[in-house]
This record gives sequence, C-alpha cells and structure tokens, in this order.
Amino acid sequence: MSKILLEIEKLTVSFETDEGVFKAIDDVSFHVKSNEIVGLVGESGCGKSVTALSILRLIPSPSGRIENGKIIFNGNDLLSLDIRKMKRIRGNAISIIFQEPAAALSPLHRIGQQMIESLMLHKNISKKTAWNIAESWLKKVSIPDAGERMFSYPYQFSGGMQQRVMIAMALMLAPDLVIADEPTTALDVTTQAQVFELIKELKQSHTSILLITHDIGVVWEMCDRVVVMYASRIAEEGNINDIFSRPAHPYTKGLLKSVPKLSTKAGRLMPIPGYVPSPFNYPSGCYFRDRCPQAFDRCKKEKPQLVDLGNGHKTACFLAENVTS
Ligand SMILES: Nc1ncnc2c1ncn2[C@@H]1O[C@H](COP(=O)(O)OP(=O)(O)OP(=O)(O)O)[C@@H](O)[C@H]1O
Ligand code: SF4
Ligand SMILES: [Mg+2]
Repeated sequence: MSKILLEIEKLTVSFETDEGVFKAIDDVSFHVKSNEIVGLVGESGCGKSVTALSILRLIPSPSGRIENGKIIFNGNDLLSLDIRKMKRIRGNAISIIFQEPAAALSPLHRIGQQMIESLMLHKNISKKTAWNIAESWLKKVSIPDAGERMFSYPYQFSGGMQQRVMIAMALMLAPDLVIADEPTTALDVTTQAQVFELIKELKQSHTSILLITHDIGVVWEMCDRVVVMYASRIAEEGNINDIFSRPAHPYTKGLLKSVPKLSTKAGRLMPIPGYVPSPFNYPSGCYFRDRCPQAFDRCKKEKPQLVDLGNGHKTACFLAENVTS
C-alpha cells in the first residue's frame, strides 16, 4: 500500500479584512498518498487555493492566519519548520503551479535565467546541464523556438505561454508533490491535453499531484481520489469510482449533474441553484442547506461532521449518518 505523503489535519485559516474576520478554510482534513493524483474540487471561493497556499506557508501575512491544524509532509509538520527548511522544501520537494502565472515569474529576469537559477538552487548541477534541462522542458510544454525563447522576458510571452513556463518550472525539479491550482485555465484545448499528459507522466515517475480544478471532466480523466470542498469545509472525499458512481453528499451530486459530458441525460444540464454564500453569511447548521434539495429540520441546527462510509469514502451530511447507522 502506498504511504501517506501529505496529511492535513484540522486546518483552519482565517483572514482579517475591513469587513471583519472570517474563516477561509475551516477544520479541513485530507491526505495525499505517494504516487497518486488527488483532485480538489468545489465552486469559486470554497477555499481550494487557500488550502494550497497553506501547504507551502504562502498565506499572505498579517491579514491571513493559520489558526489551527497540522500539515504533515514526509513525517515533518510544515507549520513548525523554520523558514530556511521551508524554503528548501518549496520547489525541491513540493512545487506549485499557481492559478495566476504572473505570481510565479519575475518580470525583471529572462525566462532561461529564472529556470536555471531554480534548478541550480535545488540540484547540484552545472550551469550548462541546468540550461539543457530548462530548454528541454520548454520544448516539452510546446514553447516554439525554445532555445531562443530562453532569452525572452516574461512580458514577451502571452499569458498562455507564461503559464506553460510556470508548469515547466514546477515539473522540471521532479518534486515529491506538485500542487497544480487550475493549471490549464489559460491554455487552448490541445496544450491542455499535453500538460495533462505531462502530469500523468510525472505520476509514473512517483510524483504525487494535488490537482485543483473546477472541471469535473478533468477529475474523471486524471484523478485517483477526489476531495470536494464547499464553503470552507470538506463536503466529501473518496476514490474516483465511489465519488462518481455513489456520490453521497447532495453538493457532489449537484456538481456531477452540472457537467455536460457526465450528465445522465445528454444535453440536460442542471446547474446547482443559488450561490456559495459569503463567508460572513454562512447559514447556521449545514452551510449547504440553502441550496440543498434534501435539507430537513436538523440541517438548520447542527453542523454535519464527516462520516466514514468505508473504503476511505467520507461525507459531511446527516443523510449519510442514517445510511450507516
Ligand atoms: N488574501 C486574501 N485576503 C482576504 N480574503 C481572501 C484572500 N485569499 C482568499 N480569500 C478569501 O478566502 C475564501 C477562499 O478563497 P480561495 O481563493 O481559496 O477560493 P477558491 O476555492 O480557490 O476559488 P476559485 O475557484 O475562484 O479560485 C474566499 O472567500 C476568498 O475571497
Ligand atoms: S446535512 Fe442537510 S442540508 Fe447539509 S447536505 Fe446533508 S441534507 Fe443537505
Ligand atoms: Mg483558487
């Protein structure tokens, strides 16, 4: 059985804003095993990126604060590592593909220079070897004239090309874990497919991937397990077959019905009515109750906790308690 590479335990992160303090993620627990791809899904604002940034301790401070929890990676709690050790882990053991490429590239330095600096910082290799590795990765992510493009500045690249450079930079170090936050949003369909192939290849070479996406079709194609977030909390978690064939949480059921390719009746899309509430206005009890077609009296009064349905399948819904009891 694969070992657990990353274990997030009861993680709560809050932000202080002009409107007040709110929890962006609340009591979040899940794990990633070695050599697996875990999908983290949920509508906008549910806390996916905040979860990703917390793993690398990149939550903006002082407005953001990790209130509680542990993030155990390869046996070490990342939240208590000194910053020098944490910097060594970033890039080398865990790398991130940001939702926004501008966040990852320095506007002041040439692409090639940024790539070889990152390689030489983490690997004991010569500049020439680093240059060759960087150039080969630019080719792998389909940057035309890769040799010449090594000398370009980020502003000379389109948004999609910048995103591909960032993907190359995250993958070229062959880390133990890649966190990919909507990695292909800015890319055309063909390049998207190429990037997903690269991510799959990486899994073959024993890298685990936490893949954050809105796209349930991508989850089905790529992932071994899925973690569903709703309004700062985990709604459901399970292996890909259980989640797609036996979704237990009404929110997961709603997400699956809202996807064209997976919808049972072709062409009949059923988006989940309503919106994710603002974190300042979460309802009492279950945060999904205003949108839930199966809500009942208890859902107003109590917050559902994750219930274990067996085989690693868990859900935070009172209906599942009735099934298991
Ligand atoms: N730096 C920040 N300061 C204040 N609030 C923030 C900050 N970053 C995120 N948030 C808030 O935290 C909540 C979770 O945001 P997060 O970015 O994790 O959502 P997400 O699930 O990644 O959404 P999307 O799919 O749109 O990327 C949201 O309410 C968001 O507005
Ligand atoms: S706990 Fe109640 S409101 Fe929440 S998802 Fe389950 S049935 Fe719906
Ligand atoms: Mg996000």
